[in-house]
Amino acid sequence: MKIQLLDPLVAQRIAAGEVIERPASVIRELLDNALDAGGKTILASVTEGGLEQIMVIDDGEGIEREDLPLLCESHATSKVRELDDLYHIKSMGFRGEALYSIAAVSRITIASSYQGSDPYQITIDNGKKEAVLPGGPRTGTMVTVQGLFKELPARRQFLKRPSTEAAMARSVLLEKALAFPDRAFRFISDQTVRVDLVPTTRKQRVLDVLSLNQNIVPSEMLELYDTAGRFDLYAVCSSPALSRSDRSYIKIYVNNRPVEEYSLVQAVTYGYGELLAGGSFPYCYLFINVDPTLVDFNIHPTKREVKLRNKAEIHHQVVSMIASQIKRTIPRMVKQELEVEDAPLLAPIYQ
Ligand SMILES: Nc1ncnc2c1ncn2[C@@H]1O[C@H](COP(=O)(O)OP(=O)(O)OP(=O)(O)O)[C@@H](O)[C@H]1O
Ligand SMILES: [Mg+2]
Repeated sequence: MKIQLLDPLVAQRIAAGEVIERPASVIRELLDNALDAGGKTILASVTEGGLEQIMVIDDGEGIEREDLPLLCESHATSKVRELDDLYHIKSMGFRGEALYSIAAVSRITIASSYQGSDPYQITIDNGKKEAVLPGGPRTGTMVTVQGLFKELPARRQFLKRPSTEAAMARSVLLEKALAFPDRAFRFISDQTVRVDLVPTTRKQRVLDVLSLNQNIVPSEMLELYDTAGRFDLYAVCSSPALSRSDRSYIKIYVNNRPVEEYSLVQAVTYGYGELLAGGSFPYCYLFINVDPTLVDFNIHPTKREVKLRNKAEIHHQVVSMIASQIKRTIPRMVKQELEVEDAPLLAPIYQ
């Protein structure tokens, strides 16, 4: 007989590999949980790029003592009850797999006070659950992850230098911060505060995040809206005076989740059309809100892929919002466009 059932711990570690690849994946999952818990102030810290320690603290509603032992079981979630709930998802999480996966490949401690009551904590050490003990923060939840992949040297070998891992963790935090401008985010690496974002408007959050890496004149960034169409669109985009030679600053969010959806990146560039020279691309943060019944994020364990039911319609709406509103904000360009359009269509042939 060749076939055998895997030891549960081995199976758990194999499954964890899909969700948790590096410290930045841990940060992504812990931030999602903090956001779902309604945290207004969220702090993430890494030591040695997260190879030694990762910590996320929120001031959300917390976790009940009785729930602590369930946290690191597979399919343990408060966010989905029935299959149908998957199609009405408003939360970031829904698989009930993130903490289970992290617990399989590190030593994790979750300490929490449920709605301000006495705090309790639990530790799971590479899949082995310890007892629930008193102690923890006065409000919200504090999750500490130590020695990621310590028992999986093959995995740890794939990690980059601590400074590179820290940079990846920081960009995951910034990606989340862009979608939730009403929350405060702080990122600490090796005891130094690297990012400190206060609650603000959508546009200002984009400017705050951009200003960490770029020198951008705020007046070159425009706000576009389309709430009259079938899908709710909002974007902060650069005027044609500002462009880049790559698409790396075209970011698409669907229902507050960053997604890799090339056709929508393309829709943004089509919208600019000839306002940008060939090989130039805008800065554009596009936030699309779609009825949850029309999207499916349950495609990839890290939820970066999305199945959109009305992709062609959304594409069209994005192109027309950008095409009409970007031109309108640049009066001189509009005039030039109109002159071209007003000219008799066949004129060039007779010249
Ligand atoms: N910071 C937190 N504050 C409050 N509750 C939390 C927090 N983190 C986790 N939880 C609770 O623990 C449960 C399990 O979290 P976990 O991240 O493993 O799964 P999930 O968020 O439900 O789904 P997913 O696997 O898609 O992230 C959550 O459903 C939630 O009830
Ligand atoms: Mg989660």
